[in-house]
Amino acid sequence: MFISFEGVDGSGKSTQINLLKAEIERNGIECVLLEEPGTTLVGLEIRKLLKDYEKVGDLSSVTELLLFAASRSELVDKEIKPVLAEQDKMIIVDRYIDSTLAYQGYGRGFDTDKINYINDIVTQGIKPDLTFLLDCHPFQSIGRINKFRNKDRFETEGLDFYQAIRSGYLEIAKLEPKRIKVINAELPIPDVASIIWDITKSCI
Ligand code: TYD
Repeated sequence: MFISFEGVDGSGKSTQINLLKAEIERNGIECVLLEEPGTTLVGLEIRKLLKDYEKVGDLSSVTELLLFAASRSELVDKEIKPVLAEQDKMIIVDRYIDSTLAYQGYGRGFDTDKINYINDIVTQGIKPDLTFLLDCHPFQSIGRINKFRNKDRFETEGLDFYQAIRSGYLEIAKLEPKRIKVINAELPIPDVASIIWDITKSCI
């Protein structure tokens, strides 16, 4: 089984991913955690480029899109396909195809049909069985970022950018309600975790 997590920066993905992984392992199932952009050798180099605003400055929106796509291509080839071939393992990936649609499509204004086309190429058609979209108001997520982290190039964007991404994510979820489950990430952490586990359990 292949699960992806999506949401705006600061929506609490990392916390929920770690809680779900622990619960899956408590139930005796091996679980591999992957992250985008990153994880592979090439992906980690791309991640550094994409995040280092000081060094890279403004990237053209096409360059940004293709760097995310290149990182995903490596992830699919080197990690996702081999793990899926081992039948008794689960994969959780922190961001996947829907991040590109939400950020580069709805956020930066890139044509979503073209993004879908690029996503199809780099994923070789491999889609998650289940996607959790952690939905919260950008006020809340931006507040979390300001409190807990140093900001990177995406996290210095304004509220409008995050509002566009949030509504983009909700549009994407409407198109694929079977795969994408919208979770209210403003609820307390244990409540969010238990909703996510209940849905996962029913699909295992
Ligand atoms: P990261 O630190 O992983 O953010 P988070 O912990 O919130 O997932 O940084 C990844 C950033 O890259 C994040 O701001 C979302 C953005 N992103 C895109 O714009 N497009 C993409 O296709 C992906 C995978 C990420």
